Amino acid sequence: MILKTRKLKKHYAQSEHVVKALDGVDIDIKKGEFVSIVGKSGSGKSTLLHMLGGLDNQTSGEVIIDNTPLSQMTSDEMTIYRRRNIGFVFQSYNLIIQSLSSVIDFHQKRTLIRVSVLKIRIT
Ligand SMILES: Nc1ncnc2c1ncn2[C@@H]1O[C@H](COP(=O)(O)OP(=O)(O)OP(=O)(O)O)[C@@H](O)[C@H]1O
Ligand SMILES: [Mg+2]
Repeated sequence: MILKTRKLKKHYAQSEHVVKALDGVDIDIKKGEFVSIVGKSGSGKSTLLHMLGGLDNQTSGEVIIDNTPLSQMTSDEMTIYRRRNIGFVFQSYNLIIQSLSSVIDFHQKRTLIRVSVLKIRIT
């Protein structure tokens, strides 16, 4: 497996309660696999991509890429890793998203499609 998560959790502390965006995610992705993560709004897709891309720290659990747990990397190593291996199109930047949703809207009379894209290159 080129990419694994084990018991991955991301909990956001809100004022009086905790939002469990990820609550024990195990995934296994093989080298060369092309993967889409699908789920209803708020189910944690963007949160998961942020964890896989090393953009945010998990509450607990592990992201393991090419047998290296990301949590073992120093901040400098993570920066280099992201620069060399990660491509990320953010959902909220509205670049692809607007043009994509206008196409969808034209054809389907629906506007609500939002995407995040994560590309991981392992050499
Ligand atoms: N920074 C944050 N602080 C607090 N709660 C957050 C934060 N980011 C996400 N959440 C919450 O975590 C949950 C998962 O959010 P996330 O954005 O990962 O969902 P999503 O599947 O990407 O949704 P969408 O399809 O709308 O993009 C939601 O309940 C959201 O409100
Ligand atoms: Mg999202």
